[in-house]
Amino acid sequence: MRRPILAANWKMNNLTADAKKLCAGLKEELSGLRDRDIVVCPPSILISTVKDALAGTLIGFGAQNMYYKQSGAFTGELSPDMLVDAQCRYVIIGHSERRQLFAETDALVNLKVKAALEVGLTPIMCVGETKDERKAGKEKDIVGGQIRAGLKDVKFESPLGLVIAYEPIWAIGTGETATPQDAQDMHAYIRSVLTEIYGEETAGLMRIQYGGSVKPDNIDELMACEDIDGALVGGASLEAKSFARIVRFSA
Ligand code: PGA
Repeated sequence: MRRPILAANWKMNNLTADAKKLCAGLKEELSGLRDRDIVVCPPSILISTVKDALAGTLIGFGAQNMYYKQSGAFTGELSPDMLVDAQCRYVIIGHSERRQLFAETDALVNLKVKAALEVGLTPIMCVGETKDERKAGKEKDIVGGQIRAGLKDVKFESPLGLVIAYEPIWAIGTGETATPQDAQDMHAYIRSVLTEIYGEETAGLMRIQYGGSVKPDNIDELMACEDIDGALVGGASLEAKSFARIVRFSA
């Protein structure tokens, strides 16, 4: 089995006091776990608070976005080096909210993934189809296209250093989760696309997270699926006990 990776995406939620409290709860609940990767992605302004609050634990942290240039006149953006300097190990790239609300394209996602890998960050590259695309039976074309374009000419040293998150847009924040069968079906398809790009051995080692209304009461059946290697969790990551239960899934 691939080493599971469970990540919290706080999105634009929490102030300093909330972050400290949430991290203290996670520290208490999760400190002893060594057999999985645990990641917290707060708003960037809270990264140093989270770093201090999680010091001494194995819980990693990262950013929800970054720009692909290392410095310069890009008002409001953060560079890959800045995230490394803040001791991040991970960065979410191409979340559907960034694609839909901030017009991020596959080409930009591709530049960001490359820039993240170049400085040793682990990108969590998000892909996923809309409800209409699924209704039209186009979900695999869409997701396959996002994977191929996002990973165009992308090379990496370790297959563990690049994570894919499959997040069907219709399942994000809606309470509607993909059935484990539908999710597994798409994850197997994604792995087949990764196999085309990187070969069977590497694709077999790469981790693919599911995201979209993951909760304590559906994580176990999702994680029981062969090609689901973790979760990217929004709403349910804002409460320590519920995220801890997700991290402690039993499959
Ligand atoms: P959700 O968000 O768990 O609130 O559906 C997941 C995500 O967008 O990463």
